[in-house]
Formats: sequence, C-alpha cells, structure tokens
Amino acid sequence: MNIVVLAGGISTEREISIVSGTQVCKALRSKGHRAILIDVFCGDGRIDQDIEGTFSEEYDVDQAAAYARSFDGKLEELKKRGSFFGPNVIALCQKADTVFMALHGANGEDGKIQAVFELLGIPYTGSSYLGSALAMDKDLTKQLFRENGVPTPRGIVLRKGNPVLSPSENGVGLPCVVKPSRGGSSVGVSIPRSDTAYYKAVEMAFSYEDVLIVEQYISGREFSCGIVDGEAYPVIEIAPLQGFYDYTNKYKAGSTVETCPAKISEELSKKIQKASLDAYHTLHLNSYGRIDVMMDAQENVYCLEANTLPGMTPTSLLPQEAAVLGMDFPALCEKLIEVSLRDNMS
Ligand SMILES: Nc1ncnc2c1ncn2[C@@H]1O[C@H](COP(=O)(O)OP(=O)(O)O)[C@@H](O)[C@H]1O
Ligand SMILES: [Mg+2]
Repeated sequence: MNIVVLAGGISTEREISIVSGTQVCKALRSKGHRAILIDVFCGDGRIDQDIEGTFSEEYDVDQAAAYARSFDGKLEELKKRGSFFGPNVIALCQKADTVFMALHGANGEDGKIQAVFELLGIPYTGSSYLGSALAMDKDLTKQLFRENGVPTPRGIVLRKGNPVLSPSENGVGLPCVVKPSRGGSSVGVSIPRSDTAYYKAVEMAFSYEDVLIVEQYISGREFSCGIVDGEAYPVIEIAPLQGFYDYTNKYKAGSTVETCPAKISEELSKKIQKASLDAYHTLHLNSYGRIDVMMDAQENVYCLEANTLPGMTPTSLLPQEAAVLGMDFPALCEKLIEVSLRDNMS
C-alpha cells in the first residue's frame, strides 16, 4: 500500500511523535509498503509535481525524520501562515491508500485532523473525530466515566481566573494529582503533598493550559491496557524506579520497569481488562486505543484516561502487549491499519 505516516505537528509531544512515526514508517517499509514520513505541520515543500512518484521503493526514513526536525526552531514563525497543514500534506494524504496517524497530543490526537480527513474521504488509523475529542479532554472523560459506571479517581476542575480553594476545602485533599485537562506524556502533571506544593503545581499546570484536573491520588500499582479491534490486550505493569510515571520515566530508557503480562492474578487482570473495555466504549473509541489504570492496596481499579494514539515505537507499551500475543511490531502496525480501514468503511 501507499501510506503516509503523519507525525510531528506542534503539540508538546512533537518530538515523541517523530520518533513513533520514524519507527512505524520503517516497520511498514519492512513489510513491503511504500510508506513515507510526513510532518503534518511542516509538510514537504520539496515535492512539487510528481506527488504519486514520491511513494517510491527507495526511501530514506531517517532523512525524512531529519527533514521534519530541521523545522524545530522555526515553528513559531511558521504558525504565522495561519493554515495548520504544511505544504503538500493534504495532497499527499489524498494520494495515499491510508494515513497512519503517528501523532500525539493537540492537533493530532484530539479529533480535529480526524474530522478534516472524514470530510475529505481520507482513510486514517485510530478512533474517529468524536472519540478522539472526548478522550483528549480529561474533564469530559471523567464526566462520562462517572455517568457510565467506569471507576475513576475523584476529582475537580479548575479554570484559570477562578479562585483556587485550598486542598482542605476543595474536596480532594492531599496528596493529589494536578494535571492539564488536555495534556499528554505527563507534561504539566505533578503530585503535591503540601499546600505550598499544591499552589505551585497549579501555577505550573496553568502555564500549559487554562483548564486543570485536580484528582485524588491513588497510591498503589500502575497498569495500562491496550484495546485493538474490541479486544483487550494483555495488561502491562508500569513501575518507575523513582517517583511517578512522569515525562522522564516515560521516555528515558531504563528508568521504568515495564512487565507484560503483569504479574497479577487472572481475576485481577480480567478486572483491569473489563474496566479498560468499558472506558473504551464509553468514550466511543474505535479501532484501537490504550487505557491508563491505577490500582490501590484494596485492589480497587481506577481508569485515569484513554490514549487514542498511544506511543508506537517497538518498546512502547502497546507493542509490548502485542508481543505477548506473538505479534511483532511490523505486524501490529499492519493490524492497526487493517482494523482502521474496516472501521472507516462501516
Ligand atoms: N489519580 C492519580 N493517582 C496516582 N497517580 C496518578 C493519578 N493521575 C495520574 N497519575 C500519574 O501521572 C501519570 C500521567 O497521568 P495521566 O492521567 O495518564 O495523563 P497523561 O495524559 O499525561 O498521560 C500517570 O501515568 C500516573 O503515573
Ligand atoms: Mg497517561
């Protein structure tokens, strides 16, 4: 197939997305697909005439990634042009048989590009615009979880400009978790244990966004569970050596022990898988996704959030779960395309 792997963009997860995109593009090429890596925001201004010819057998993925990264310092300047999509991006996506979404965060994982592609008739991987938009918003996610009986930590919403009540008055207490409502990769997330730390955490999170979640801290073990095509994959346990699963622990090799299948009873594993499936359906997700889960000492399970475009390097969580099922990374990439194309048709 001719495939555009879309990566980059302007979210706080731009860099991670280029890493995911590079790996996905290489994996798809190893399966014989003519996949090309394109930065959704920076595009490829070097292609002018023969767009079809760009899906060639000879292609250097690392060079394409380097080209995307060459724009890193120029994003603010480029934003002035107004339109989000970079040169040739839409034309290339229209020429491709499908678009693999290797984007993370705002303008990629939040449903906007999905909505554009639906209107343009461009097939793409992952959830539709509605599920993507719901899952991106942790406030709406938690409201839907609560209304549909999906267990989630108690929490409140803070809006910039409104008074910030102290932890003893806000109904959540300490320690708690402060996070931007529409963030990802733990950017802006902190776990304050004192009033002073709480106000600092709120200020820091407001530097990213105007809406925050303040959530009950769940002390215990952390898990994640991928869902592909309506099937819950083996549960993976995430145990950072220090602190919580913050940005560094997510992306610095060796900083977190990830165990799949998680060393828990069959019963507990089923409980996490069921909560994850419920979370997935509640948010109207389709094709695939990954649910983050905490478990307390009493083995109560809490869904934190859904990732509609989870990390996709060979060592990312979902690929590790697929490996337990005997599916290697290139096979998983192909499977995600296959289930998404089928969902797109229906
Ligand atoms: N209520 C909570 N209790 C304990 N830890 C939490 C809680 N919420 C978030 N965390 C920690 O913060 C990390 C990031 O939070 P999450 O809600 O998954 O947002 P993100 O979209 O940034 O991944 C989690 O993986 C977990 O380690
Ligand atoms: Mg998360």
